[in-house]
Amino acid sequence: MDIAAIAALAPVIPVLTIDRLEIAVPLARALVKGGLPVLEITLRTDAALDAMRTVAAEVPEAVVGAGTVLNPMQLQQAHMAGARFAVSPGCTSDLAAGVAAMDMPFLPGVQTVSEAMTLADRGFHLLKFFPAGAAGGMGWLKAVAAPLSGLRFCPTGGVDESTAASFLALANVACVGGSWVAPQQAVSAGDWRRVERLAAAAASLKRS
Ligand code: 3PG
Repeated sequence: MDIAAIAALAPVIPVLTIDRLEIAVPLARALVKGGLPVLEITLRTDAALDAMRTVAAEVPEAVVGAGTVLNPMQLQQAHMAGARFAVSPGCTSDLAAGVAAMDMPFLPGVQTVSEAMTLADRGFHLLKFFPAGAAGGMGWLKAVAAPLSGLRFCPTGGVDESTAASFLALANVACVGGSWVAPQQAVSAGDWRRVERLAAAAASLKRS
């Protein structure tokens, strides 16, 4: 599956920061059960790589990817841990070259038109718009729709249940990413039913 096919699996990609390995599998199962199979586990905690490995092995219905991939070494580590795609908040030449060498589905982050054009030149046509809320939100996406007509975006960062539907209604939005489907409070309390309910609501959102 390429990144467009992965993004087509669900309207929302949960962004997960997992600090305890033991929550990884129940969290992933609740999200998948709610209808969100594409999971981004950020490389921001010591438990992240083990969490990825464990979810990849124990929750086969999930399509697990690595988030916050900042350099080729992290890309390699994520690949070894079973990540099936990678997401970055921005992109460097090294990272783009690493992705090309590894043939890993990749969702690189952009915040400006020039960054989007540079990545399009490198063959990336589905981009993470990050941080979507702080960088212009829906106004930015509407404004670039005509000049960057060949590109589609996954806005992430500041997207939540109150705004996701409006983002998804835009023709150049393929899917959205966000942490709201796995609130810290619910995760700490092991409230997997709440996570499943939030996932089900997110999974039912319509795309344009
Ligand atoms: C992040 O980097 O944490 C993601 O973009 C998620 O952002 P959010 O917590 O605003 O959904």
